[in-house]
Amino acid sequence: MKIAGTVAEVREQVKQWRKEGLTVGLVPTMGFLHEGHKSLIDRAVKENDRVVVSVFVNPTQFGPNEDFESYPRDMDKDSALCEAAGASLIFHPEPSEMYLDGYSTFVDMSTLTGGLCGKTRPIHFRGVCTVVSKLFNIVTPDRAYFGQKDAQQLAVIRHMVRDLNFGIEIVGCPIIREEDGLAKSSRNTYLNAEERAAATILSKALKEGKAALESGERDAAKVKQIVTDKINSEKLSKIDYVEIVDWNNLEPVEKVMDDVLCAVAVYIGKTRLIDNFIFSINS
Ligand code: PAJ
Repeated sequence: MKIAGTVAEVREQVKQWRKEGLTVGLVPTMGFLHEGHKSLIDRAVKENDRVVVSVFVNPTQFGPNEDFESYPRDMDKDSALCEAAGASLIFHPEPSEMYLDGYSTFVDMSTLTGGLCGKTRPIHFRGVCTVVSKLFNIVTPDRAYFGQKDAQQLAVIRHMVRDLNFGIEIVGCPIIREEDGLAKSSRNTYLNAEERAAATILSKALKEGKAALESGERDAAKVKQIVTDKINSEKLSKIDYVEIVDWNNLEPVEKVMDDVLCAVAVYIGKTRLIDNFIFSINS
């Protein structure tokens, strides 16, 4: 497995693979890889001849008071995980390789990005869409893999690919959790022992919301209240949002008539965690 730091190296390698008629999968990440990322790589390895994993903590998707500087990084561990999972290439550029001096072009979306995480992170999805577009242009994969852990991101990327005719298949992958239900996340390392225990409240609350929907509750406000009350029962938690939105357009719903995304963002101490489930009306 190779590690490429430049766009030119990646292009050269992909050109070679294309000459051999091989298919290429891309797994975009910000590194500090865990089982969640590994599940995406495993799936990509199954479905493509060659897999590129990008490891890039993308500065343009972090707000001024967010954790860009402190975001955890461990390239040795990441390369070992990618190699063991069967990836063929890691793309690990410096910010200066991705954003040349005088960089000024951004991919912005006027729907889907205003609510949920977009409310507290107003420039986040512009940064995500921009970097993912760049990665798509650099790697030109057949398929790209994204986790449902970041459900809004998955919906936004699908929409962007449709709007901009990228011609890349977007594969959504299920949320991988710790044994006690906490969704795996690189940011879980910020939690101390007490906060780590408290963090299970997200998945516990979502479970109760899901149970209400499964037993026929269709009033979104009632389901949101169940989730909210449960989260508030944990004293270390502070809710950023609890939302139920249409899974197709991410617009808030009052009555659950179609597939919905129930998503939460909660501060546990200073750490902001997200989690969600998708409820399919026909299942
Ligand atoms: P990052 O947070 O590193 O996540 C990379 C991918 O792994 C995302 O698609 C995310 O949804 C997925 N992932 C993370 N935790 C997961 C879990 N517990 N189960 C399943 N999948 C999980 O998301 C980003 O990076 C960035 O925004 C990026 C798309 C790379 C653009 O910079």
